[in-house]
Amino acid sequence: MRVTDTPIRIRRVKASDVAKVIALDARVTGLPKSTYWRDLFARFGRRRLAERFFLVAEPDAAAARTPLLGFIIGEVRAWEFGSAPCGWVFGLAVDPDRRLEGVGEKLFEAISAEFRKAGMDKMRTMVARDNLLPLRFFRGEGMMAGPYIQLEKDLE
Ligand SMILES: CC(C)(COP(=O)(O)OP(=O)(O)OC[C@H]1O[C@@H](n2cnc3c(N)ncnc32)[C@H](O)[C@@H]1OP(=O)(O)O)[C@@H](O)C(=O)NCCC(=O)NCCS
Repeated sequence: MRVTDTPIRIRRVKASDVAKVIALDARVTGLPKSTYWRDLFARFGRRRLAERFFLVAEPDAAAARTPLLGFIIGEVRAWEFGSAPCGWVFGLAVDPDRRLEGVGEKLFEAISAEFRKAGMDKMRTMVARDNLLPLRFFRGEGMMAGPYIQLEKDLE
């Protein structure tokens, strides 16, 4: 059951959000990655916006310094590995103090709607096998195991 009905707003990321995204990601992962996020904003926050979606969630009445509640990032990818165009989600995080309030689900629904608007009828993501939290979340949103398997090798 959801603990609050606080209205939230989901919108595209803007330049003034980048520091907030870096702070939230550092809280969630324990690893600050300033260069990575600035580069991602340059590529996903400004260019080819009809197929790249970097969305943030904030309280409805957020002021300039209000921290973000969460973010989700994805894009349309075409013909990789022979796959027809589909939506890929490759980043998602919600403030650890604001989980189980439906923020993640609203972000997921918002990016799903963007993928549909872009003409997609399928979306994909990847999760670590031993990380049950995102696995449960994505399964709860209706995602199932897909037809591809990932292969990898240690390079010497
Ligand atoms: C995964 C994550 C984004 C979920 O965000 P959230 O705002 O707490 O999720 P919601 O409140 O919208 O929950 C939606 C559904 O997800 C599932 N879920 C979420 N958290 C769960 C938990 N701790 N245990 C079990 N199921 C969970 C439930 O099915 C839930 O539906 P319900 O509330 O009706 O039971 C958040 O936990 C997070 O940021 N985790 C760390 C980063 C991460 O794992 N990112 C994803 C991979 S990149």
